[in-house]
Amino acid sequence: MITVVGSLNLDLVAPVPHHPVPGETVLGGDIAQHSGGKGANQAVAAARLGGAVTLVGRVGDDDAADVLVESARGQGVDTTHLLRTRDVPTGRALIAVNLSGENSIIVSPGANSRLTAADCEAAAEALRTARVTVLQQEVPDAANHAAARLAGGMVLYNPAPAVTGAVPPAHVDLLIPNRTELAALTGSAEPETIDEVTAAARKLSGADAVLVTLGGDGVLLLEGSASLHIPAFPVRPTDTTGAGDAFCGALAVALAEGNSLEQAARWASAAAAISTTRTGAQGSSPHRDEVAALLAGHA
Ligand code: RIB
Repeated sequence: MITVVGSLNLDLVAPVPHHPVPGETVLGGDIAQHSGGKGANQAVAAARLGGAVTLVGRVGDDDAADVLVESARGQGVDTTHLLRTRDVPTGRALIAVNLSGENSIIVSPGANSRLTAADCEAAAEALRTARVTVLQQEVPDAANHAAARLAGGMVLYNPAPAVTGAVPPAHVDLLIPNRTELAALTGSAEPETIDEVTAAARKLSGADAVLVTLGGDGVLLLEGSASLHIPAFPVRPTDTTGAGDAFCGALAVALAEGNSLEQAARWASAAAAISTTRTGAQGSSPHRDEVAALLAGHA
């Protein structure tokens, strides 16, 4: 079983010719509404790949909450530990996607910011029995710290988005930052080359292993003193929103099934690559047969 503690957002997505700079107004295309939020995206990604997944989180008491809870449940996620919050809006994300598929996102956390350590304690059984627990940074640190403490299995921490002042749990099994998040964690400039990424990731403490997601440059796995660069699967991206979430969800499934970190990272890379070829965050994550087909084509 996999337990994801994290956010649920209603994503409002606008295609744009380019991302606006401060003070600029850009005319975009028609807006689309999708279920999102890093926690929900990761939970759905894992469920679509065959994982038995419980999601712990908070939504408001509004129409958006109904949409998000129903869409997670419809994908097979156990929503027993999704709590309603009075007088607070459900989380929302304003997303712009440019012609290369790159996104910029503003998150209004709403009810996500009300998730507490006590909420995680109420889900203690789901955390204790999970083979893998997955955490991100769109809910308060206190909730993440409680979840990490209560987790009976492996803890995956995705420090996304990079939040100034966020404090990861004292110890996690696997840390999964992207370049920006790695820079935020190390307090240095964004590393560019694989050597620079490796050097920066070696500075991190508090995790048994680190997997840095590098988009089109693949992923870097650091385990003890060993490092391994896994190139990306060549795809033509149309929307990279949620690719990191597809990666984390797939990783959780592969690790819960007993695969090695390297096997899990390759599988998750394939899932993330497929997700970038489709629009939206949650709906773009692949099913198991699609990941198998992409891997078989590159065997
Ligand atoms: O990682 C993508 C997600 O980030 C979106 O679904 C949005 O809701 C934000 O949480």
